[in-house]
Amino acid sequence: MQVISNPEQMRAQTQQWHRQEDSVAVVPTMGQLHAGHLSLIEIAKTRAKRVVATIFVNPLQFDQAEDLARYPRDLDADLNKLQNLNIDAVFTPQTSDLYPEGLDAAPRIHIPLLEKEFCGRSRPGHFAGVCTVVAKLFNLIAPDIAVFGNKDYQQLLIIRQMVQSLNFKVTILSGDTQREPDGLALSSRNAHLNAEQRALAPQLYQILSEIPSKFQLEQIPALEKSSIQKLEQAGFRCDYFAMRDAAHLQAISLNTTNIVVLAAAWLGSTRLIDNLLFPRP
Ligand code: PAJ
Repeated sequence: MQVISNPEQMRAQTQQWHRQEDSVAVVPTMGQLHAGHLSLIEIAKTRAKRVVATIFVNPLQFDQAEDLARYPRDLDADLNKLQNLNIDAVFTPQTSDLYPEGLDAAPRIHIPLLEKEFCGRSRPGHFAGVCTVVAKLFNLIAPDIAVFGNKDYQQLLIIRQMVQSLNFKVTILSGDTQREPDGLALSSRNAHLNAEQRALAPQLYQILSEIPSKFQLEQIPALEKSSIQKLEQAGFRCDYFAMRDAAHLQAISLNTTNIVVLAAAWLGSTRLIDNLLFPRP
């Protein structure tokens, strides 16, 4: 596995693979790799000859300096985990490699219809930062395939929209959310939970999981409200809890095929997000 930090070296390597007609898949990450990330890499391996994982804590997508500063980082541990997966390369650029012009001067890609609600509302500028770095990775690596997690469902839809709107030639695949045995979605941020918060955390997924059996079109606002109350009673501070059409995050209608329940909630200073997809009954 090559470890490449220089963007032009990364580009030269993928160009060489393309000349050989090897297909290339990329799995973008911010490191602190867990079984969720590794499951996306496994998907990539089944779909392309060459697989590149990227590790870059992208400052452009953090609206709070403090959140960026405390984002967990352990490159050596990450590289060890990747060694066992037998992938071709890991791209580990520095901030100055990807934003030589400085963060203030960097362009931002906006997806207006999808970026405003949910995580976009509580984290202004977040999705523009995500889109910008993902577009840069796509330009450098020119992947045939890129794999993202359903865990960050709004992010997944925004990236799909960006690919369509900006005519990127990449196929976006998604992977299921990997969880702890008690249901808590794996996340680098779980490391910030203290023992008491960690014991409470699985209730987020439990409350999400109650929705499919209770779902009725006329009951959506009442169900959202009672779920928020349950979260607050359990000790969370709810940011949002909402049911939407999984195709575009608009309101659910009789045309809806699949539903997504999206939730974000705080335990102390840690914000957890999760979601659940199910077919409209
Ligand atoms: P990061 O949070 O490191 O996540 C990298 C990828 O792993 C994303 O596609 C995310 O949805 C997926 N993922 C996270 N937790 C998962 C889980 N429990 N099960 C399955 N997949 C999971 O998302 C980002 O980084 C960044 O915004 C990025 C796209 C890399 C741009 O900087």
